[in-house]
Amino acid sequence: MSNLLPDNERILLGPGPSLTSPRVMRAMAAPTISHLDPQMMALLDDIRARLTRLFHAPDGSFALAVSGTGTSGMETAVANLVREGTRALVVVSGYFGDRLAQMCERYGATVRRLDVEWGRACDPDALRAALKASPADIVAMVHAETSTGVLNPIDTLAPIAREHGALTIVDAVTSFGGHPLDVAAWGVDACYSCTQKCLGAPSGLAPVVFGPRALERRVKCRSFYFDLQLLEDYWLKRKYHHTMSSTLVYALDEALAIVEEEGLEARWARHERNHDAFAERLAAIGLSLLPPKGERLWTLNAVRVPDGVDEAAVRKHLLDEFSIEIGAGLGPLAGKIWRVGLMGASSTPRLIVLLLGALESALARQGHRVHG
Ligand SMILES: Cc1ncc(COP(=O)(O)O)c(C=O)c1O
Repeated sequence: MSNLLPDNERILLGPGPSLTSPRVMRAMAAPTISHLDPQMMALLDDIRARLTRLFHAPDGSFALAVSGTGTSGMETAVANLVREGTRALVVVSGYFGDRLAQMCERYGATVRRLDVEWGRACDPDALRAALKASPADIVAMVHAETSTGVLNPIDTLAPIAREHGALTIVDAVTSFGGHPLDVAAWGVDACYSCTQKCLGAPSGLAPVVFGPRALERRVKCRSFYFDLQLLEDYWLKRKYHHTMSSTLVYALDEALAIVEEEGLEARWARHERNHDAFAERLAAIGLSLLPPKGERLWTLNAVRVPDGVDEAAVRKHLLDEFSIEIGAGLGPLAGKIWRVGLMGASSTPRLIVLLLGALESALARQGHRVHG
């Protein structure tokens, strides 16, 4: 046995991965099968059906799981809808909006960025004005911006894009399974997520859905690996494209079954309840969240680092003394926030109590008074 394997259980409360559900761990112990085994095909059909339901995708959609992490979902959406000269308007309200803009550019789009202050949600009027000033073929945006802890109002933004004739690409990496998401009702055309956040599985697959308008307007894909036509041929016609991991397929299928057993609405409510409890107890020890109320994610909390506190030392203390992982700030928020994920199996009252106690201990170590 490799002596590099971790022998202590990390409590994953960072921006992802979150904890893997024990049932999912057990599912991954099932024997390996091939990517073309009839049992694998039955699993892929099950995953397609479950994803279509969980995304609330309209009739005529195609849902699948792409081999790769969340970024592969992003690349699949972009690579099949963007070509040389596509006019893409990208809402950039954080690190992942910026990644989306870079991705569109790499596939040849003429990118216009709608920059939003980090820590705030996109104002629907700003999107309306940007589209009025200059039309776009695609509007790409992040639902749950993991770098800032902000929820963009896709329920309002996507219909605006549609009114202006644009297709929408929505990143639901940190919202799928944790926040309400309704691809059909909101008129989202392509949406992608990951397995390692609100679904409670390890990273390695990216749930993706293309609605009927996106399927009609797809472009010739420059990527072989992410070519939707080739992926459709594998998922629907059982034609070899790549050797998909059966272990990860077991994990995703079990994770989606757990989501459906809990019920989406109940799961969203759990994420909301645990976020509210965490925010309230943070305030009680004098800590605050970066985004204003009403724009906050339930799944990812951007906690302001108090003046005079060494943020990296706090994270190290949590990891060394309590085996708890939380995340650091990215880009301009480096050193200014901690990112606390309460997602999937990591969104529980027990872990919130544990984290708050550990946080108080870490702050006290630096002589920071936490009470009153
Ligand atoms: C909003 C968002 N989009 C995309 C990604 C990229 O996902 P991955 O790291 O799984 O490739 C992340 C990762 O945290 C994310 O939070």
